[in-house]
Amino acid sequence: MGRFIEEWKKSHWAGRLGTKDEGQTVVLMGWIDAVRDHGGAIFVDLRDRSGLVQVVFDAADLEPSAIDVSKALRQEYVVAVRGMVRRRSGKPNPNLETGEIEIRATALSLLNRSESMPFQVTDTIDASEATRLTYRYLDLRRPPLQQALILRAKAAAIVREHFNGEDFIEVETPVLSKSTPEGARDYLVPSRIQPGSFYALPQSPQLYKQLLQVAGIERYYQICRCFRDEDLRADRQPEFTQIDVEMSFVAPDDVMAIADGMIAKLFGALRGVDVLLPIPKISYDEAIRRYGVDNPDVRFDMTLCDLTDTAKSSSFKVFSNAAANGGRVLGLTVEGGAQMSRKEIDALTAFVKTYGVGGLAWVKRQEGQFKGPVAKFFDAALEQVALGEMGARDGDLLLFVADSTPTVAQTAAGRLRAHLGQHLGLFKPDAFGFVWVVDFPMFEKDPETNRTAAVHHPFTAPLPEDLPLLDTDPLEVRARAYDLVVNGQEIGGGSIRNCDPEVQSRIFDALGMGKDEAKEKFGFLLSALSYGAPPHGGLAFGFDRLVSILVGTDVIRDVIAFPKTTRAACLMTDAPSRVDAAQLAELGISLKFKGD
Ligand code: AMO
Ligand code: AMP
Repeated sequence: MGRFIEEWKKSHWAGRLGTKDEGQTVVLMGWIDAVRDHGGAIFVDLRDRSGLVQVVFDAADLEPSAIDVSKALRQEYVVAVRGMVRRRSGKPNPNLETGEIEIRATALSLLNRSESMPFQVTDTIDASEATRLTYRYLDLRRPPLQQALILRAKAAAIVREHFNGEDFIEVETPVLSKSTPEGARDYLVPSRIQPGSFYALPQSPQLYKQLLQVAGIERYYQICRCFRDEDLRADRQPEFTQIDVEMSFVAPDDVMAIADGMIAKLFGALRGVDVLLPIPKISYDEAIRRYGVDNPDVRFDMTLCDLTDTAKSSSFKVFSNAAANGGRVLGLTVEGGAQMSRKEIDALTAFVKTYGVGGLAWVKRQEGQFKGPVAKFFDAALEQVALGEMGARDGDLLLFVADSTPTVAQTAAGRLRAHLGQHLGLFKPDAFGFVWVVDFPMFEKDPETNRTAAVHHPFTAPLPEDLPLLDTDPLEVRARAYDLVVNGQEIGGGSIRNCDPEVQSRIFDALGMGKDEAKEKFGFLLSALSYGAPPHGGLAFGFDRLVSILVGTDVIRDVIAFPKTTRAACLMTDAPSRVDAAQLAELGISLKFKGD
């Protein structure tokens, strides 16, 4: 086995052969994808990274050799084949790039055998996610995953070309670092040399990239790994990749313009989409008003209508109670939705309830009248809004969500809107909706701890006109922050930073951080800002999310070579795992388990 690899060199990619190569002698190396034994001749699909080609093994063509061809041609065996390219003897296969030709094999070498496979290497797969992740190296042989990795590499190359062309320089920052608050828990790494001390893996290079601005780098970028110990979902991984960017002497529009250029190049080159620049911007307040959420899906209209004022005097208690208690009553018009069945509406009700509202009220507009159980509550004022602002026409369905907590009503209505967009196919499958959401609030109250927290992060600068509110009414302060949302997913975010150490200290104050704590955690930043820090700002994109949108998958695991499960585990290597007692002793660590 393997003897020929010294004498033969792979001469061509299997999937790139065509009629242009007719008559050529080629050496191919790859995996046996499928075998069809037709008695006289054996037909094999040979696969390498580039695709498939049909190879015909006919005893009459083969040079004499020691190997038994029929035993070497088994699924996923690794072979080298020498042969001649010719037009297919049978019918061309229109489903295959190389479908017009085949290779007439003259020699075969078996390079390696394979155990029988846990699943087939096919485009679609029915093996469980756990099996796929355990044998990730086999899953990655599947063409869709190979295409995803290839596209990811192309995207990274385009990103580098873009930033290099704009005078950015790529700088690497430490992985063994100190905690930067981005809202998640840190992954900690114990120090052997200083027992009892820990490094934190970076949640992002936020502080380093700001320090690089103080250092006079002016334009920095990096494609880097970030680590966040948080509850995982389909669009989150414990380690993920950012395109991280920071610039000196800029306002928000300058940062967004550089980002726009990158987005246009990526979607142009990889999806053939002409992104209209500049990407539109809406304020956070407007996003919440129109779409209920700060990550709106702008591939379709159907915006929310606020009926709170009208609902105050309604005899429908669900509405009037929410309105009277400082809440919101929000409506959505589903064009042509009157044909929706009771069952479908019940499913929508169950959907909104998962966001904490009590239910979903609805009326249908049919034959010039409002119908349905809630229609009897439709007084003249509500009718006027329904027919006016909500634009109800015959055949439409009107949906209403009410709650005495505005954010609960907004989120439920906003999620319902996004759900309907998908469910009813309100946009073309290949449409992209880009929007910048700007002027976020600087702070929010954490509902669990009731503590003030930064919405983006504490290094973000407030809008200059809101600075006086910092000490009096911090929750009203808006930030010079911006998020890029694509198809309802936040794929990037950033802000202008505080280059004035005094403002930075006031923000730490507003967060309830004492002077000593601020000094201990961020003394190096405050010190750096005091030595002529230039005005600066930047942003970071979630590279995995961006690539998954470019690939057209909802699951970021599909665009990561070796992803982790939602329990943050690698099923293939079995990480995280126990370590030797000796290793722990060296670190001065002893383990104590809950319940011990
Ligand atoms: P932020 O925390 O918004 O900003 O992160 C930037 C982008 O990173 C992506 N992202 C993730 N992707 C996959 N898995 C995760 N667990 C995950 N968490 C975040 C998102 C997000 O938009 N330092 C700031 C940027 C700045 O201010 O310049 C930061 O990290 O797509
Ligand atoms: P009930 O008064 O609970 O019988 O509800 C009457 C109708 O109002 C039903 O169709 C409920 O689904 C709907 N409903 C209940 N709570 C809400 C709410 N918070 N927002 C909108 N509709 C609701």
